[in-house]
Amino acid sequence: MKVVVLGAAGGIGQALGLLLKTDLPAGTELALYDIAPVTPGVAADLSHIPTPVSVKGFSGEDPSPALVNADVVLISAGMARKPGMDRSDLFNINAGIVENLVSSCAVNCPKALIGIITNPVNTTVAIAAEVLKKKGVYDPLRLFGVTTLDVIRSSTFVAEIYDRNPKEISVPVIGGHSGITILPLLSQSGFKFSVEDAAAMTKRIQNAGTEVVEAKAGGGSATLSMGQAAAKFGLSLVRALNGEKDVIECTYVEGSGELARFFAQPVLLGKNGVEKILSYGSLSEFEQATLNDALETLKSDIKIGEEFIN
Ligand code: 2OP
Repeated sequence: MKVVVLGAAGGIGQALGLLLKTDLPAGTELALYDIAPVTPGVAADLSHIPTPVSVKGFSGEDPSPALVNADVVLISAGMARKPGMDRSDLFNINAGIVENLVSSCAVNCPKALIGIITNPVNTTVAIAAEVLKKKGVYDPLRLFGVTTLDVIRSSTFVAEIYDRNPKEISVPVIGGHSGITILPLLSQSGFKFSVEDAAAMTKRIQNAGTEVVEAKAGGGSATLSMGQAAAKFGLSLVRALNGEKDVIECTYVEGSGELARFFAQPVLLGKNGVEKILSYGSLSEFEQATLNDALETLKSDIKIGEEFIN
């Protein structure tokens, strides 16, 4: 099994690399790539941690050497937000980065499962799909937008107000990964929320990324929590590839297209990536209304990505 992180020298990439080095199954090969020359050093640093996972670092313009024979590729490369910026403000810089990296995946590891972390995820996943399609290797079962941070934030914040262990709380999050497209299904959390409380909690979860951007005061966006979320998602992909049953994650994938071409919802993962897109169940009136409001934004975010490539 080979797992690759593209953008491995960045804030998310370093946290992600650390967690993968400590938690991947024995015998896994971990390849770290970043344009930054420090990357082989990041790999050397991680390689001193005593786990049976080998680490190699690659830097420079060409990610190919890192990608050959990859089974899972996690892409966190790109610019982070500064205060006052929306995730979509990153489009101009990050769109081209994702295009180049995914083009290289298409050539070097066309069968790999690809998880996109680079923002704006609603759009960069569409870019990745169109790049893979142009190269003749697109398989919707193998491309994922990583929305796990919304899921872990939801359990953390719900646990906080009910004074519980967040590990015991699970809240599915559907839609996309930005602003109003992030829809936590609090009605399925096991706790009763009034409409006002659900609205306030939903807003907190939708704005959580901005909360971190503002707290970091120009120093970037969420890296440690995003690294943890991406590691959780990447490890789930690896478990599913290794034949483990019942591995379920909420993730942004291309499904039936009923609501939008790409949509985040619970997905059963398997040896080919998406095993089955699961129903997100019934929504409260508040959630249904929020979803209706979000769809236009989500569809337009997707269109921007499709048009960028075509
Ligand atoms: C966030 O939600 C970085 O998009 C990421 O904080």
